[in-house]
Amino acid sequence: MKIGFLQFKPLFGEVNKNISKIQKLTRNIKADLLVMPELSNSGYIFTSKKEAFELAEPVPTGAFTRAIIEIARKKKMYIVCGIAEREGKNVYNSAFLAGPKGFIDTYKKAHLFYNEKLWFKKSNTPFKVHTIKGVKIGMMICFDWFFPESMRVLSLKGAQVICHCANLVMPYCQKAMVTRCLENRVFAVTANRTGQETRGKKSLHFTGMSQITGINGEILSTAGASEETIKIVTINPRDALNKNINPKNNIFKERRVEFYRDLA
Ligand code: ACM
Repeated sequence: MKIGFLQFKPLFGEVNKNISKIQKLTRNIKADLLVMPELSNSGYIFTSKKEAFELAEPVPTGAFTRAIIEIARKKKMYIVCGIAEREGKNVYNSAFLAGPKGFIDTYKKAHLFYNEKLWFKKSNTPFKVHTIKGVKIGMMICFDWFFPESMRVLSLKGAQVICHCANLVMPYCQKAMVTRCLENRVFAVTANRTGQETRGKKSLHFTGMSQITGINGEILSTAGASEETIKIVTINPRDALNKNINPKNNIFKERRVEFYRDLA
């Protein structure tokens, strides 16, 4: 299975330009599964709830979503893409999954980071897995990585590849994903954005260095800090079904859930 990430700098509020960038970057690629950054349609730093609402779009009928679905159709690949989603009166920080036959599902971010709490509604949907080409995948968004339960529950539900849309501003995630993948024996694709975004007095630097991580915590591919690029690697997703780290230790079967009750 060929899995990869698209790393780019979304331009704030410039939906059509963001679509064009993605179309250009994906023109000559061949992949089974491509993951794109968080909020790829809109950019990150909103200045009001109204602005977030206006820049968000309904999924899957919005213009940005339809353009990404068209790429998935044309390229006969699956795409997980981060998006500012409008649903009724609410705005969500979401990711959607689309494939050769069109739209499949949406995941709404569970753990909102810092000022995201001002613009977005917290999700009320559980972590879910989807089967594509016989392989189970799960979606999560950026700060979800900070909560090990996100990847754990997806992995316990059978996810072999974690699709991780990100707008990272802290320096820890790429290193943490090594442990997250190792402790769950899953693959992960962290698709981060790049660049500085300044809106009024607020300015953030996004760290790039998107990463594909293997089941033993090995870094299979990484991008530079500021480049707009796509990287694709070939994996055997069946490797993620084997939770034995040696003939005597199976990290899922040996969980002592009777000692973990306080977690819930
Ligand atoms: C983040 O969750 N975008 C840091």
